[in-house]
Amino acid sequence: MKLKKAGLLALVLALVLGALPIGGAAAKKEKKDVADMDIPAILEDVDAKGTINVYHWWTAGGEKDAVESVVNDFSDSYSNIRAKSNAIPGGAGGAMVMKVKVLQQAGKSPETFQAHPGQEIEPYLSSNLLLNLNDVWEYANLAGRALPGMEELSTASDGNKYIVPIGIHKTNVIFYNIHVFEKYGVEVPDHEDITWDEFWAICDQLAAAMPDGEYPLDLGDRKGWPACQVFEDIMLGTDAQIYENFINGIYSVEEVTSVLSTYAKLMDYVAPDHSSRDWYEASGQVVAGTYAMQIMGAWMQPLMTSMGQVYGEDYGVFTFPGTDGWFGMCIDGFVVSNDSADVEGGVRWAYNVSTPSVQTAFSTLKESISPYSDTPDEIYNALTLRFKNELIAESTKVYPSFTHGTALPWSASTSLQVQIQEFATSSDHDAEYFANRIVNILKESGVKGDWNLVE
Ligand code: GAL
Repeated sequence: MKLKKAGLLALVLALVLGALPIGGAAAKKEKKDVADMDIPAILEDVDAKGTINVYHWWTAGGEKDAVESVVNDFSDSYSNIRAKSNAIPGGAGGAMVMKVKVLQQAGKSPETFQAHPGQEIEPYLSSNLLLNLNDVWEYANLAGRALPGMEELSTASDGNKYIVPIGIHKTNVIFYNIHVFEKYGVEVPDHEDITWDEFWAICDQLAAAMPDGEYPLDLGDRKGWPACQVFEDIMLGTDAQIYENFINGIYSVEEVTSVLSTYAKLMDYVAPDHSSRDWYEASGQVVAGTYAMQIMGAWMQPLMTSMGQVYGEDYGVFTFPGTDGWFGMCIDGFVVSNDSADVEGGVRWAYNVSTPSVQTAFSTLKESISPYSDTPDEIYNALTLRFKNELIAESTKVYPSFTHGTALPWSASTSLQVQIQEFATSSDHDAEYFANRIVNILKESGVKGDWNLVE
């Protein structure tokens, strides 16, 4: 796995912070400093009492069971602490940031909440709202156990750790219904790393054969982010250098126009009412055969499993065209508020998600890749194991997702999602017009990344 990042160096300007005024005067609770806490003693105090609020956005089929297993394991480890699971639907973290902001301002910070490492958590750090978890990393030997690259991606711009990773998913994937291909006589290529030409040929054949009301593709972008997910896949699949430039703040209208022109072509094959559904509703329609394919991260696997679908029999996957050899990285983790009612409880939760028992149960149900090398390969199904082996292969190049929090600040990513959704729902898909709008948004956010994806 190769990913070079010279530091998380994004310069988050006052403008960005202004767009996300978390914390500040309204936060009422006293902040705890890790320097005054004995982390090993806290983690080893299995008789501790309390209640912790855990916020996450895992509401889709399969994901729900996965997070439930983490809650159950926590109750086994700390039987006198009640972990209350609070689900914020929506996926991808956008709604979570808003929710946490409101809770923090009301002086009710959650003890712990789901987040992606990288830019997404930087505004909390700028407002000093997260507990430093360096001692948890040390206690649980997370640096020694982490898969290559994971420690670097989990290190904040100030050099400290504020997040404990729980799982990893690949983002540049297309799921398809095998039965739909069979029904309409469309041959499935004998390789998953399809080229753009093969992809367009599949779309053409499906479009020609499917009756009115059925489509080769759906987006399920009622929440916006799935449309942005497709944008980032097309961007990497067009030219990795464009992607690197984009997340480093070197924005070119021409480059973004070329990405959006391909996106416009793709929209010819998408169900016209794509934005009336959430991503998991679209997946349900893929299973029903109304749509043949869905461009989605690998978190669609447990949803398919929850609907009784079997990889290789009912559904298959393609690598998003043009991204062969690349692994789009989406990392889930938990952070700990430093001003909640039970900061120690939050620390215990964060530590607990890294334990081998949680990693085994969670990775099995979520069908995600464990961030830790001591999680045995036997727990993975065939597809997840393939993705894991891809991730750790020396030849694989990794790129951080900006739809899922790591590569762009939350404010920029959110505005981007709105623009891309508007582009996808517009009648003429005017690539140049939207490219100008996108470039302006990102220029205004003033972010300067220092990612080195392309050697
Ligand atoms: C991602 C998250 C995945 C999955 C997905 C859809 O941001 O990393 O685990 O939850 O959103 O909700």
